[in-house]
Amino acid sequence: MSDSADVRRALASWVSYLGEIGVRELELREAPRAPSAAEVPPAGDAPALLAAIREDIGDCRRCKLCDARTNIVFGTGNPHAELMFVGEGPGADEDAQGEPFVGRAGQKLNEMIRAIGLTRKDVYIANVVKCRPPGNRDPQPDEVGTCSPFLFRQIEAINPKAIVALGSPAAKTLLGTKAGIMSLRGRWASFRGIPVMPTYHPAYLLRAYTVENRQAVFDDLKAARARIDEAS
Ligand code: URA
Repeated sequence: MSDSADVRRALASWVSYLGEIGVRELELREAPRAPSAAEVPPAGDAPALLAAIREDIGDCRRCKLCDARTNIVFGTGNPHAELMFVGEGPGADEDAQGEPFVGRAGQKLNEMIRAIGLTRKDVYIANVVKCRPPGNRDPQPDEVGTCSPFLFRQIEAINPKAIVALGSPAAKTLLGTKAGIMSLRGRWASFRGIPVMPTYHPAYLLRAYTVENRQAVFDDLKAARARIDEAS
């Protein structure tokens, strides 16, 4: 028997089992479709690659975060950025406006970027998950698993010289570790060969606005600036 006949038979038996246990309705969610080779823009054409990733995300229903979101927050900034910032996921302001880091944490991030002589237009900013987790909770493992491949493709498209991971969820996702931000911050690590500097999330800095924390973040960002300057 062919593979597709096996799959049809397995599906039929699964649906019949669901019927027996009382399931009357099934919600069909769109399956991610791999782009064909002809549809993939050439490596190096970052704007086209980013546009293709956005198109693949579409009106995403792949995980439960779609239920309460207003806008998908894809990412913003310079497609040719040498430095990329990665946060965890949109908050209420970002969900309303469709742009990452536009609320209070965003104002703080803008200050952090300016402190190393750059602006938002020089860098690229994205998040691990593109839809707002309800009540600003951390994204859950299934949500990160579903959404992070899009972030990874954004990083591949932009190919920055360094990445700053803002807070635990971003650092854990990029570095594939369970270690928390307290032990990761300030030490270079790497994502697929790209240097990653984990630092505190600007929202944490706003909550714990101590001289030590501000100095730590400034040191991390200066190290990131030096790294991209060296690589130029
Ligand atoms: N916090 C994040 O991690 N990302 C945003 O876009 C806003 C707040």
